[in-house]
Amino acid sequence: MLRLAVQKSGRLSDASLDLISECGIELERNTRKLKIPAFNFPLEILTCRDDDMPRYVEQGVVDAAIVGGNVLQESGGEGFASIALGFGRCRLSIAVPKEMKWEGLESLTGLRIATSYPRILGDFLSAEGIQADIREISGAVEITPGIGVADAICDLVSSGSTLLSNGLREVLPVMNSEALLVQSPKISSAALGIFADFSFRIDAVLRAKRTKYITLNTPNSAIERIIEILPGLKSPSIMPLANSGWSSLHTVVSEDNFWGLITQLRAVGAQGILVMPIEKVIL
Ligand code: PRP
Ligand code: ZN
Repeated sequence: MLRLAVQKSGRLSDASLDLISECGIELERNTRKLKIPAFNFPLEILTCRDDDMPRYVEQGVVDAAIVGGNVLQESGGEGFASIALGFGRCRLSIAVPKEMKWEGLESLTGLRIATSYPRILGDFLSAEGIQADIREISGAVEITPGIGVADAICDLVSSGSTLLSNGLREVLPVMNSEALLVQSPKISSAALGIFADFSFRIDAVLRAKRTKYITLNTPNSAIERIIEILPGLKSPSIMPLANSGWSSLHTVVSEDNFWGLITQLRAVGAQGILVMPIEKVIL
């Protein structure tokens, strides 16, 4: 059995369980249970507070966890083997009251900065040679300037709406974060085998999310140039069309610079480009 920690209720909870479901693993959803068994895979999910996860991973209480990079770094456990999962993207940033004059990092000198990330902030400020007074707060950091407890904050920003509704302005990003699948250094060899299978499935789902299947029609004279443009999995499939002198070309492309690629393909003569989602990519 693989024991996996997932955030109990928070920004990563739903997306974590969705990703596991996309791997073909059936779970009992909409439950408030602390332990969620999987029906068709040797997996047991333990729902817990994100702040507890690095310790559980380190001590081997769980074999693996889906945890935010920010939480991991704050705990000092960023050395664990991990896979970036591409969701839960946010940044840890410094924000100040919107009327405060901001002239760069030096403006923080001597200020009281409230945060739930004293370690990351402390490391950042000392690397930059800034002296400030870090006030550790466990939650609702965004209200501290308004009630006179701090002059600035260092907190997670995703949409920015929390800052906006509290009259704060983001002035400096400190780190970028996303959800990570981390493996316990204490994992047993039996669980490690299951983890390998689990992470193989995750990888296939993530690859599929990052790639598209495309088909296009091209005059035969343009095939060579199109192949040079396309960074496919292997070489593309090419089929003759009934219309002589034309072919249909099928391949898989990455979502990075996707539109740039389409522009290049059209420029060399590709027509009737179809783009389709992919469910899994097994290499
Ligand atoms: C973070 C942060 C803000 C909010 C920012 O809290 O502390 O409150 O998200 O998101 P926004 O820019 O989209 O408004 P989180 O949801 O992680 O909860 P927590 O503070 O209780 O850990
Ligand atoms: Zn949190």
